[in-house]
Amino acid sequence: ELVSKGNHRHYMLKEIYEQPIVVAQTLRSYLKRMEDQVTLPIPDFDLGAIKRVTIVACGTSFYAGMVAKYWFEQFARVPVDLDVASEFRYRAPVMEPGGLMIVISQSGETADTLAALRHAKAEGQKIAAVVNVPTSSMAREADLLLPSHAGPEIGVASTKAFTCQLAVLAALAANLARAKGLLTPAQEKEIVRHLAEAPAALNGALAYDEKIAEMAHLIASARDVLYLGRGTDYPLALEGALKLKEISYIHAEGYAAGEMKHGPIALIDDQVPVIVIAPSGPLFEKTVSNMQEVQARGGKVVLISDYDGIQAAGEGCMATITMPKVHPLIAPLVYAVPVQLLAYHVAVAKGTDVDQPRNLAKSVTVE
Ligand code: AGP
Repeated sequence: ELVSKGNHRHYMLKEIYEQPIVVAQTLRSYLKRMEDQVTLPIPDFDLGAIKRVTIVACGTSFYAGMVAKYWFEQFARVPVDLDVASEFRYRAPVMEPGGLMIVISQSGETADTLAALRHAKAEGQKIAAVVNVPTSSMAREADLLLPSHAGPEIGVASTKAFTCQLAVLAALAANLARAKGLLTPAQEKEIVRHLAEAPAALNGALAYDEKIAEMAHLIASARDVLYLGRGTDYPLALEGALKLKEISYIHAEGYAAGEMKHGPIALIDDQVPVIVIAPSGPLFEKTVSNMQEVQARGGKVVLISDYDGIQAAGEGCMATITMPKVHPLIAPLVYAVPVQLLAYHVAVAKGTDVDQPRNLAKSVTVE
């Protein structure tokens, strides 16, 4: 490989550790710190006139899109359709004039995502592409290229590409809101301030690495694992489950915490660890109440929260993982780190091929 692993045992671990630096790099191109503004490459269309957004991607990139849906709706008040690329073309999607499709892809070559881009373009949609490989097909074919600047990602499990995608998408959501006249300079300043805090917070999250390594054996012996989250932590629950499945081969599912009682709670016993992602904030109490339902049925919980959250609800958990206290806007970036590290250490404990898991390719260029 042209890119070295440095002092790290695996590319995946190196890439997890690169996140504070690459996210800072990404933010440098999307934030004007001196002016307290977000900034994008100038599109050849009017961002403020966008009536509807369609986000399409696969795998981890899809989960970044799912987080972004919350942001676009919250900040820019624009309706958002979200679909996995392999389904998009086959459901006769309705794309009215004035719509923007956002494709998200590390490689820029994923066959289904590229096909969705072409389909939407033929239907008259404007295309924005959040891609990591700037020479890729998607980068070339988009109307608005938004590079994610994560640098080469070698590990098959996507890590730094995800957090950099989130940084770009947060800046895009703020830009769209400003273009629509929905963001005051004071609000924009706040967003810029919170995003600029992400690299230091990512460093803070990495400080828990050793403790996560120590608790990996609690998960490594499980046959099934559940991940729960609410709001933007729901896509993170899905991402955590995907990471664990793909590199440790343990069956894992992510659920919206509130969905537990609609079925999955039937699976709970002391053999199924439940990872709960719950930063303190407006949704904390609700997630904790779902967590307590799990505990009441003998479920073994690993709670990922900040100090206040752990103090409030950590008792009775099998283990806790403490994150720095962060603004909800950057929580999805910061909480990505413990779910990546947990999957990584479980895979190492199981002795799997972390960087090149079985049956998987880094870039899926066939449908
Ligand atoms: C994530 O860890 C994956 N290996 C996979 O889901 C990946 O995110 C997906 O194939 C999409 O790839 P892309 O971002 O290059 O389009």
